[in-house]
Amino acid sequence: MKAVIIIPTYNEKGNIEKLINILEEEIFPQIKNHDMNILVADDNSPDGTAEQAGVLAKKWKNIDITVGEKRGLGAAYVRAMTYAVEKMNADVMFEMDADLQHDPKKIPDFLKKIDEGYDMAIGTRYSGGGSIPQNWPIQRKMFSVFGNLLVRTILLKFSIHDWTGGYRALKKEVFLREKEELNSFKGYTFQVSFLNKAVRDGFKIAEVPFHFEDRTLGDSKIAPISYIIDLLKYVIAASIKEKLFGPFGKFLVVGGTGFVIQAIILRVLVELFRYDPTAANLLGAVVAIFSNYNLNNLWTFKSEKFVGISQYLWKMLNFYATSAIGVIIIQAGIIFLGDTFLGKKYYFIYFIFGTAILLVYNFTVYRFIIWRKKPHK
Ligand code: GDD
Ligand code: MN
Repeated sequence: MKAVIIIPTYNEKGNIEKLINILEEEIFPQIKNHDMNILVADDNSPDGTAEQAGVLAKKWKNIDITVGEKRGLGAAYVRAMTYAVEKMNADVMFEMDADLQHDPKKIPDFLKKIDEGYDMAIGTRYSGGGSIPQNWPIQRKMFSVFGNLLVRTILLKFSIHDWTGGYRALKKEVFLREKEELNSFKGYTFQVSFLNKAVRDGFKIAEVPFHFEDRTLGDSKIAPISYIIDLLKYVIAASIKEKLFGPFGKFLVVGGTGFVIQAIILRVLVELFRYDPTAANLLGAVVAIFSNYNLNNLWTFKSEKFVGISQYLWKMLNFYATSAIGVIIIQAGIIFLGDTFLGKKYYFIYFIFGTAILLVYNFTVYRFIIWRKKPHK
């Protein structure tokens, strides 16, 4: 595969020379099964980074340079990834800082994950032996650790430990799929939003632990306060949008229609046909569950929709079983426990609480078992 290491630069003249030398002389010679290339994405650095890269590109033929207007890190990446795909025919792209904070020796680890079939490999500083500089002052360490924890918590996505980092490898398909949506994230928030979209679309993602080195030359370009504000704005908005308009919101709407269907059947059978209420309620439930199943299949989880008849029927059986377990064991169980240990007086509170737990249980089973995400192809 053709791999392109994209290195965004703004005033990294000294660093880019060191990094490219290490890549060309020490790292690339070790990699036999991929065609390794470099793309420097400079934004007209006043210190002459692009000119320096030009000198290096004369020495090694696998280096390209794209120079553009300075519009932030995300904008530089979108421009560079477009260039890597269209002009260099990249199959795999790396994101890598120029300032040697990303240990180049880890490149083979990322490629290994891609070779294993992952769509994206994320460098992580917060799990599996990854780390941040020992000599950072405590407040900077806390900022880094808690910032990431906050992102994971607000997005409710815990399987990825490092959302903000900029050391990654991805297949071109991931970029092409998300490209249109990335234009509004010009700064560092690009990292979080890009990854979040890749997760949403079911791309297979691996983590590669690495030690984040301290910067020795030049200065960080991050403006911490405005970065944190941008980041929070993004994760809060994305989280609300996903919860409200994503599968969970649709699941709630479907559940609401099921409730209405069951209520109407109950009334009609009892009032017009003189049915026994228990039987009428059960019949209503059977119809409501059938309707819920189909609406969830066609709408809530439409990207995981069942096509074959046997799968459709088998999953429907699962759905009925899940619904029965939920109502009989979870919802009724919680009400029973409340009545027994806390007294019957607050039965309606137990009902509300039991229903909330029931919703979480149902959604979890639907999302992770019945309509489990298929890896995106
Ligand atoms: N072309 C271009 N344009 N490059 C930029 C820009 C820009 O506007 N802003 C920053 N860069 C380049 C820098 O020159 C460097 O190579 C790389 O992007 C990372 O910038 P740093 O300024 O070194 O960032 P940092 O070390 O403070 O931030 C680290 O942590 C962030 C949050 O966890 C990096 O790993 C980031 O990638 C990460 O998002
Ligand atoms: Mn840096």
